[in-house]
Amino acid sequence: MKQYNVGILGATGMVGQRFATLLAEHPWFNVKVLAASPRSAGKTYEEAVGSRWAMTVPMPEKLKGMIVRDLNAEMDSIVKDVDFVFCAVDMKKDEIKALEERYAKAECPVISNNSAHRFTPDVPMVVPEINPGHLDVIEAQKARLGTKRGFIAVKSNCSIQSYVPALHPLREKFGLTKVLACTYQAISGAGKTFETWPEMVDNLIPFIGGEEEKSEQEPLKVWRTVENGEIVKATAPAITTQCLRVPVSDGHTAAVFVSFEKKPTKEEILALWQNFKGEPQELELPSAPKQFIHYFEEDNRPQAKLDRGLEGGMAVSVGRLREDTQYDYKFVCLSHNTLRGAAGGGVLLAELLAAKGYFD
Ligand SMILES: NC(=O)c1ccc[n+]([C@@H]2O[C@H](COP(=O)([O-])OP(=O)(O)OC[C@H]3O[C@@H](n4cnc5c(N)ncnc54)[C@H](OP(=O)(O)O)[C@@H]3O)[C@@H](O)[C@H]2O)c1
Repeated sequence: MKQYNVGILGATGMVGQRFATLLAEHPWFNVKVLAASPRSAGKTYEEAVGSRWAMTVPMPEKLKGMIVRDLNAEMDSIVKDVDFVFCAVDMKKDEIKALEERYAKAECPVISNNSAHRFTPDVPMVVPEINPGHLDVIEAQKARLGTKRGFIAVKSNCSIQSYVPALHPLREKFGLTKVLACTYQAISGAGKTFETWPEMVDNLIPFIGGEEEKSEQEPLKVWRTVENGEIVKATAPAITTQCLRVPVSDGHTAAVFVSFEKKPTKEEILALWQNFKGEPQELELPSAPKQFIHYFEEDNRPQAKLDRGLEGGMAVSVGRLREDTQYDYKFVCLSHNTLRGAAGGGVLLAELLAAKGYFD
């Protein structure tokens, strides 16, 4: 496979640190640029991150001494050094939109973890196992931006990565009419640790700004279909959510209730999960989990601490499937929010784009 030089915009943040650890030894991608705000620019990566390093593994040796660049002021030189960038920054939404478009217009593809462009109609929001076909809209986006190779592709919000993978094969085969999902979201989803957010120890906060709207709307974008170059909106299922912040370091859990157009048996659901494969598995992409959905028979699984790291944090764990009195079925899902739900999902999307020649 061809090698690509990549940059990480927001390299000093929580998701940026994940990108750094995932990419340091990546077989296809070579980290050439680490960039962040003017606060970090000019310092070594080690100095810029300092005590904010939040990963359980040490900072990669080969990145420690790299000088962090200013992602805004140094854009012109950054785009010359890389084939594409990963972007995970904490800025105002319209600033992020403008930043990502500037990079794309400078012919530098952007793989974004930010929400700013998730509802831009010609920006694909892709979970590689679920809707790789949405990459087709990139041609229309390039025409709008006036670019030859520059474009933006985004991954979805971390909360929906736990339950949409489990719902997807069921939706395709049996049709979904309504879904209720309560999410129990880790503090790393807010870019925090227990050291930086001590109020979360022994606590639960029943509100995460904007999260319920994203959790209800984003699945319907992921499930849109592309017909004749146009995205056709999905209208079903009806989705309602409640999103709570819980005292867990990593791993978003979702308690899901679902009703079908045609109610399947429990065995049919389990078989669909067991056999669910997508393009990442078929193409054997380096970050793809071999088994996307793992079902646990034990009543006390999945557990965030035990199961979030399954297959390098890229698999989704499901358990407690049973019939419900109000809906057809209920079950519990778990995914690692900064791996599958953020940086790992971004890397997998970039691998899919690379395998399909979008960076050439
Ligand atoms: N954490 C998650 O689980 C998760 C999951 C999915 C998506 N996301 C999204 O990913 C993005 C980053 O989240 P995070 O948790 O990694 O945030 P974070 O830890 O607060 O990191 C923010 C990054 O943005 C940079 N930054 C902040 N203001 C800037 C400015 N004015 N100009 C240039 N760079 C600036 C910071 O650089 P300095 O260090 O120099 O200040 C840092 O590198 C957000 O859009 C978030 O919604 C997060």
